Amino acid sequence: MQDFIAALPKVELHVHLVGSASVDTVLELARRHPDRGVPLSPAELHAFYEFTDFAHFLDVYVKVNSLVISGADVTALVLGLAADLARNNVRYAEVTVTPVPHLALGIEPDELAEALTAGRTRARAEHRVELAWVFDIAGSLGYKAGIATAEWVLRHRPEGTVGFGLGGAELGVPREKYRDPFLLARDAGLHLVPHAGETTGPETIWSALHNLHAERIGHGTSAALDPSLLDHLAANGIPVEVCPTSNIRTRAVPDLAAHPLPLMLEAGVPVTLATDDPGMFHTDLNREYLLCHNDFGLGPGELADLARTGVRAAFCPDALKGTLLAEIDAVCSPRGSNVTFMP
Ligand code: ADE
Ligand code: ZN
Repeated sequence: MQDFIAALPKVELHVHLVGSASVDTVLELARRHPDRGVPLSPAELHAFYEFTDFAHFLDVYVKVNSLVISGADVTALVLGLAADLARNNVRYAEVTVTPVPHLALGIEPDELAEALTAGRTRARAEHRVELAWVFDIAGSLGYKAGIATAEWVLRHRPEGTVGFGLGGAELGVPREKYRDPFLLARDAGLHLVPHAGETTGPETIWSALHNLHAERIGHGTSAALDPSLLDHLAANGIPVEVCPTSNIRTRAVPDLAAHPLPLMLEAGVPVTLATDDPGMFHTDLNREYLLCHNDFGLGPGELADLARTGVRAAFCPDALKGTLLAEIDAVCSPRGSNVTFMP
């Protein structure tokens, strides 16, 4: 099964740039900036990444983010992520970047855009991974930060920009608060992919659909509590970016037995599997696929379908989608072989 998963070409549609930083990368940055409250040894960093609840996770995230203070740091994160994606046979990824906190730490607006573009170009050349960008609002920072996010994206729009998102806290952050920046992004032709229903109920997902015109939902785990919402997502083909290990490690979901991914699949919701913050959750995309096999009982055909759903849900050119779908088919029933992974 591990070999099959490794051979499967994949896309990753929900991964945060800062949260993707490997333990080694974070330690290196922390040693450069020992005053930022991030531990300097592997054991301490490991303990630092044990989250007591979702709010604690966000506190830790902000501290790690505070280590990223230059364009060179941003490019290094992009290249680290690209290498990790390549190791997982991820061929295309939509990477979430949160501009406002980076700018607040002194990275110049142009510098951020150039650093991302430089990283993307090198990711393609050195790791054969195609990267695209989702720029998101940090929900707790308020309306003005939301508008500032949209304005930065519209002004700089680095090559590969495909989407606009909303992350961070959900409790006390109604999705409708960010209707205006989402409209600005929509008018500029960006795809809209807010987090919703990760730590609050299905009403947040309905709000993301109605008020933010969400085209995909980040996490969306609480959809499982509302059968009419599951039906709506299924009937309208609205994909949900599901990140099982993230949900357990942030304690958004108590354990894998309670995880709604199987229920979503059963309801016909398009599910794309993702890692969210692989560096902080000690995971990668291959591991998430294996988890679906081990804990949710998905067989090879169902895992391949998850990979196909990801490709179809991606905002990449149709030609790349066609190539990836054909490659997934080829892995499922290799030509010239009687061995097939399909049931
Ligand atoms: N930013 C990084 N990871 C996140 C998550 N799981 N939810 C909301 N915002 C995030
Ligand atoms: Zn996320």
